[in-house]
Amino acid sequence: MATSIDGLMQPKSIAVVGASAQPGKIGYTVVKNLIDSGFKGALYPVNPSATEILGLKCYPTINDIPGDVDAAAITVPAKFCPEVVEECGKKGVKGLYIITSGFSEVGNKDLENQMVETARRYGTRILGPNIVGYLSNSDGLNASFAPFLPLKGKASLVSQSGALLIAIDASSYLRHVGFDKLVSIGNMSDVDFADNIRWLNNDPNTTCISLYIEGFKDGRAFIDASREAHKPIIALKAGTSAHGAAAAASHTGSLAGAAKVYGAAFQQAGVIQASDLDNLFDRTLALSMQPPMKGDNLLIITNGGGVGVLATDSAEKYGIPLKFAPADVQVELKKHMPDFGSAKNPVDLTGMAGNEWYGDSVKYAYAHPWVDGLVVLYCETAITDPVAIAKSIKQAIDESGVKGKPVTASFVGGEHSAEAMKYLVENGIPAYGAPDIAVNAMGALREYARMQELIAEPVTSCAPTDRKAALEIIAQARAEGRSSLTEIEAKQVFSSYGLPVTSTVLAKSEDEAVKLAKEIGFPVVMKIVSPDILHKSDAGGVKVNIKDEDAVRDAYRAILANSFKYKPTANIHGVAVQEMAPWGTEVILGSVNDPTFGPTMMFGLGGIFVEVLKDVTFRVAPVPANQALRMLGEIRGAPILAGVRGEKPRHRQAMADTICMYSSMILDLQDEISESDANPVLLYEEGRGVKVVDARIILKKK
Ligand code: ACO
Repeated sequence: MATSIDGLMQPKSIAVVGASAQPGKIGYTVVKNLIDSGFKGALYPVNPSATEILGLKCYPTINDIPGDVDAAAITVPAKFCPEVVEECGKKGVKGLYIITSGFSEVGNKDLENQMVETARRYGTRILGPNIVGYLSNSDGLNASFAPFLPLKGKASLVSQSGALLIAIDASSYLRHVGFDKLVSIGNMSDVDFADNIRWLNNDPNTTCISLYIEGFKDGRAFIDASREAHKPIIALKAGTSAHGAAAAASHTGSLAGAAKVYGAAFQQAGVIQASDLDNLFDRTLALSMQPPMKGDNLLIITNGGGVGVLATDSAEKYGIPLKFAPADVQVELKKHMPDFGSAKNPVDLTGMAGNEWYGDSVKYAYAHPWVDGLVVLYCETAITDPVAIAKSIKQAIDESGVKGKPVTASFVGGEHSAEAMKYLVENGIPAYGAPDIAVNAMGALREYARMQELIAEPVTSCAPTDRKAALEIIAQARAEGRSSLTEIEAKQVFSSYGLPVTSTVLAKSEDEAVKLAKEIGFPVVMKIVSPDILHKSDAGGVKVNIKDEDAVRDAYRAILANSFKYKPTANIHGVAVQEMAPWGTEVILGSVNDPTFGPTMMFGLGGIFVEVLKDVTFRVAPVPANQALRMLGEIRGAPILAGVRGEKPRHRQAMADTICMYSSMILDLQDEISESDANPVLLYEEGRGVKVVDARIILKKK
């Protein structure tokens, strides 16, 4: 088991190996930063050719240091790092900030692995390599070459990009977004996002965890750590262009871009997403200062109709559409505005509103049980004082006697408004220069509450499975040197995990096809069965609505002739005869074995919805049935499932159960299945269930 990262995150003593007396060098800057940041613990520069650096006694090697060393910042060139790590291990150093570059990021994996193996032998944890370092305001600790500690605040940031961390550090002062810790994790050779999330979750100085992510090594460890966290986590994911899609053999594979799979994983992990760097700052500010919005009732108070309308539009966009305030709220608020104001929602106090009207209405509204979240807007006028209004808002919230509800603000104007917002932020109320941003921030607080509810939902299970039967079918195909299953085999595998498939049997002759068709009952469907023909319709290998014996014979001959013409060398097993399921709403299920998250499910409407509109949604397996029900509501075509143009609603629960079974199958067989599709699956009206009509399984290369 990996040792704790306490030594890295809260060291009592730090060595800088590669410390330098030469200004401008990273080894000099790190020592200077540690001194300037006010680090209270013991500080030991290490350099074989110096006796003193920046007034501190310098040691030739780490072994020469008399006392214990909790952490060491490493600033020696890459080729010396393995030896330094060994020495640090022997000394009993608990954690290393390896600032040095030149490892796996430039293909030098062996050198990096060598360091990690050495560190593991001694139980030493590594942050990096290829990092800026580690900064903590509450520990007065700047073990980095970033210019200074960030503006003090309650969020902590973990960044895979060192450059971005430095940029966030510097701009924290301009943007008034404060941080307690900034953690640069670079190549993540050892300590990763999951380690940091677990540690920061227990850090009393961190109320919100912000992440800049380029990619995970172990996506599931991230999901597990995030789900366990009881603090908001917000992620900005870079690099969301499609990955691996070009090489995909299945429909699902071609649709499972990184953005969609990461998006699904964030949802399952309860992690809020930021759309860009600005949004990361804005949402971090709100999540680090304000409690979650636990209900849907948002009230907006404004002095201007225009910003009120803009905020109303934004509220709908961010999933918290406005409702009219209840009558008692309207009656009370009307007392704090002129006759021509409006108390409906947005509450328009009018341009005449000064600090008193703002104070009285905010105090009443914030305390009212109907209100779950409050956004206060202000447009600068010549007759009112923004700073006085900001102070009255803060006072009103404090005096309301209510806690645990979120409030955000937007002051649109010039210098005075900026000053007012600075006052609000310094007093724990997130304030922004545009109404849209204040509402977006409230949207993040609502999203966080919803995600927490989702994670807390009990997990509903799926049907029992027959793993042995599925493995036997797969083993048989592998023994024949095949990399995919035939439709009949794939359906057998599906069926062994409880999926409702149409009965499908193999006929090796015309007579056998007739016999089987009679047993199944007319009409039937007939399809070519060949591991060499994946796209059966393109080959003319599918005939439907076959109503009698003569038609079976005609179909059998036509399918074989078409298939041989399409691919003369094809290995043909025979012709599948299958029950012709009554028509229903066409949907598609599928899976990929994602390189980061492992088995991942897709659901969407079939036909043109998937082909043209790509109207699909994803989840990392397993997908409990109650989560699957939410997938049904996520696609744009969701109203079709609810029943449109007089059609009855579709059997949503049966669909959700089928998704749940499918997800169990791909998780259980993750060593065997690379990609799969059930396409189409027919979804019938309420009470009539679903039927998988066609199935495809591509095997994992072994
Ligand atoms: N023990 C102690 N000190 C040592 C040892 C050792 N085993 N070996 C060398 N040193 C000393 C050197 O003598 C030197 O001290 P000096 O100035 O007194 O001569 C000091 O360590 C540094 O060694 P140099 O060879 O001078 O190396 P330099 O300072 O030029 O570079 C560094 C070292 C900074 C680690 C460099 O190799 C590097 O990796 N730079 C990139 C860092 C980086 O960008 N990290 C990622 C950040 S993310 C982003 O992109 C912003």
